[in-house]
Amino acid sequence: MTDLLVVGANGQVGWEVSRQAQSAGLACRSLSRGELDITNRDLVLRTIEQIRPLVVVNGAAYTAVDKAESDSDTAYAVNRDGAKFLAEACAAVGALIIHLSTDYVFDGSKGSPYKESDPAAPLGVYGASKLAGEHSVRAHCPKHVILRTSWIYGVHGHNFVRTMLRLGRVRDSLRVVDDQLGSPTFAGDLGRAIMKLVLDLRGGAWPTDGFGTFHCAAQGTTTWCGFAREIFAQTARSTVVEAIATKDYPTPARRPAYSVLDCSKIARVHRVALSSWQVALADTLKELRSGNSQFMGTSFSAEVLR
Ligand SMILES: NC(=O)c1ccc[n+]([C@@H]2O[C@H](COP(=O)([O-])OP(=O)(O)OC[C@H]3O[C@@H](n4cnc5c(N)ncnc54)[C@H](OP(=O)(O)O)[C@@H]3O)[C@@H](O)[C@H]2O)c1
Repeated sequence: MTDLLVVGANGQVGWEVSRQAQSAGLACRSLSRGELDITNRDLVLRTIEQIRPLVVVNGAAYTAVDKAESDSDTAYAVNRDGAKFLAEACAAVGALIIHLSTDYVFDGSKGSPYKESDPAAPLGVYGASKLAGEHSVRAHCPKHVILRTSWIYGVHGHNFVRTMLRLGRVRDSLRVVDDQLGSPTFAGDLGRAIMKLVLDLRGGAWPTDGFGTFHCAAQGTTTWCGFAREIFAQTARSTVVEAIATKDYPTPARRPAYSVLDCSKIARVHRVALSSWQVALADTLKELRSGNSQFMGTSFSAEVLR
């Protein structure tokens, strides 16, 4: 039997889940967008009916927060409708769906860590389409885990850490916003958390209250400016990071000024706690430096760190 099907397997989280499933010896199928477009309902239903996995991890999403403002049809097609088709297909074969969602479902006005029960009020199309995806998953598959996370980075894919490292090679100074607070979360840590859920389900150690919505992000908080400074401090770079306000860096999408997630529910129910963002960043930089991040025919050299 197939333990795990990963869709959106070429994304940051999908790639990590696939690589860790392989290391854990799970029977795992990983499908990229080219192999399974989740907006194709018939294909989604047929594929999951054929594979009949124990668990489906949905790593597929429209994640371009600014572009979504002018491309809302595509954002909703992937984040709402694609999630719905996967949930329907999982329900039909009795699979658990693990669906990723975002801190951007909140408007940032709370000022203290958001709990799962806090009302969502997205500020932009991306957050609204992800919230609609959550509703679809809840409505169509009772065996679901929705993991809301934040500010993802990793060794694979496009992200803030790799962008800072690239810019730091060619610029002496950078201006980065310092009035949005959140928790940078390592995709590898999310991969490990998801692996624990899959292994618990497979091993019959699933908690009675294990389904539902959970916040799952790194411990600790910072701003994008604080994050950038830490990246340069940990790589011994002299790049100067100037703190600026969001209003001085206009973007098409509004972002929450505060999107820290309270992750105590997943710690209590599933015994999952991610490491602090600084420790996880150090692990990521170490892996990038080692050039060992090879998986699925992709290799990442230490080039970005030079
Ligand atoms: N990135 C963040 O900072 C962040 C923060 C909070 C929550 N999240 C959520 O966490 C999850 C994973 O994020 P991530 O950073 O791993 O995303 P990512 O790196 O942008 O990967 C998303 C993947 O989805 C694929 N995809 C897009 N449309 C698809 C479709 N129609 N069918 C199948 N695959 C499709 C993309 O394919 P291509 O490779 O072909 O583009 C990409 O590989 C998402 O649900 C996201 O909303 C992300």
